Amino acid sequence: KVVAVIMVGGPTKGTRFRPLSFNIPKPLFPLAGQPMVHHPISACKRIPNLAQIYLIGFYEEREFALYVSSISNELKLPVRYLREDKPHGSAGGLYYFRDIITEDSPSHIFLLNCDVCCSFPLPAMLDAHKRYGGMGTMLVIKVSAESANQFGELIADPTTNELLHYTEKPETFVSNLINCGVYVFTPDIFSAIREVYMNREGRANLRRLSNFETLQSATRTIPVDFVRLDQDILSPLAGKKQFYTYETMDFWEQIKTPGMSLKCSELYLAQFRYTSPDLLASGDGNKSAIISGDVYIHPSAKVHPSAKIGPNVSISANVRVGAGVRLSGCIILDDVEIKENVFVTNSIIGWKSSLGRWSHVQADGNYDARLGTTILGEAVTVEDEVVVFNCIVLPHKTLNVSVQEEIIL
Ligand code: GDD
Repeated sequence: KVVAVIMVGGPTKGTRFRPLSFNIPKPLFPLAGQPMVHHPISACKRIPNLAQIYLIGFYEEREFALYVSSISNELKLPVRYLREDKPHGSAGGLYYFRDIITEDSPSHIFLLNCDVCCSFPLPAMLDAHKRYGGMGTMLVIKVSAESANQFGELIADPTTNELLHYTEKPETFVSNLINCGVYVFTPDIFSAIREVYMNREGRANLRRLSNFETLQSATRTIPVDFVRLDQDILSPLAGKKQFYTYETMDFWEQIKTPGMSLKCSELYLAQFRYTSPDLLASGDGNKSAIISGDVYIHPSAKVHPSAKIGPNVSISANVRVGAGVRLSGCIILDDVEIKENVFVTNSIIGWKSSLGRWSHVQADGNYDARLGTTILGEAVTVEDEVVVFNCIVLPHKTLNVSVQEEIIL
């Protein structure tokens, strides 16, 4: 049997995702019309002999209750949310629930970060992992040398794929091969995490004996029960024939900002062509809008037949789109009203917002820049004919004059 664990983090972790994280836990923010965490969950469905999926986080239980029960029914597979009382770190969180995770004596445990977007080649990783015979295999990818320092950089043996060296977000360049945040382990991983705890306890006792104040304050910054998979496990165990790498040649991105969620929504829409073509709007039938490229439209949304939608658009529940509207490269969240002849591109329109006639909401589409996409928070009103360009607008604002390159507080 195999189990999968998805680390969803908690409310304090989503600060870069503001203003969208005010309304919804980041893992439930829709990408291609499905909650972010839905994409790794559906990928897990392809793992042979998968018995359970656990989501581990420190959000309130009730925030995930509805999603977890509906996805369990839909996939006919038990999905459970396990809540930590406080953050324990990526390895600490796994260890905290070790008794539940190992209940049915799984042979392998997948661990996935929820804020990565990729094709999750999990069955192939499992096969590779069995061939390597180590304690863990991690998904890795080559990125540009300039962007590598935002991630864990590593060196792998080109023939055996063994992890030889690992440094988390190094200040000086190590390698453009990086950690994708997707792993498969044997249950030995729990002993490796236990070692970290025991060593720390040993060191703490030693300090208590020698009463060495300076050392004590130097280590006080991280709590003793906080264990990070990268710094505390992968770095010290690299080069010991315990960890191996599996390189993906497919797409991979990390989702830390609203702008990146727009990019990842696009990547997942493109993937739907192969995995779930039924979710893409076809534009057939004489009553539907004019569709171009990859588009998701929730069945409850009402789109005027003269509207031009696409490419890369995802429209959520109860959205109303008027005549002559043009939408491309955008995410329209629940209950938004878009009046006649509105133009939207490279933007996210927050829940219950309203866009007046002939208004423009747009951006230059540089996903990495702070203001390269326009983000409207919940219930923002853009009045008729107003132009919003490269802006972040906080919830409940009314825009009655045109704005550009601004954060509207
Ligand atoms: N449950 C729980 N508890 N989840 C956590 C905790 C915790 O205490 N801390 C982090 N997470 C979750 C986050 O929500 C995220 O999904 C994942 O664990 C990793 O988060 P971080 O530890 O903050 O690391 P990161 O995202 O900056 O970088 C990691 O992932 C990159 C790939 O996306 C590192 O492993 C990098 O090396 C890697 O490149």
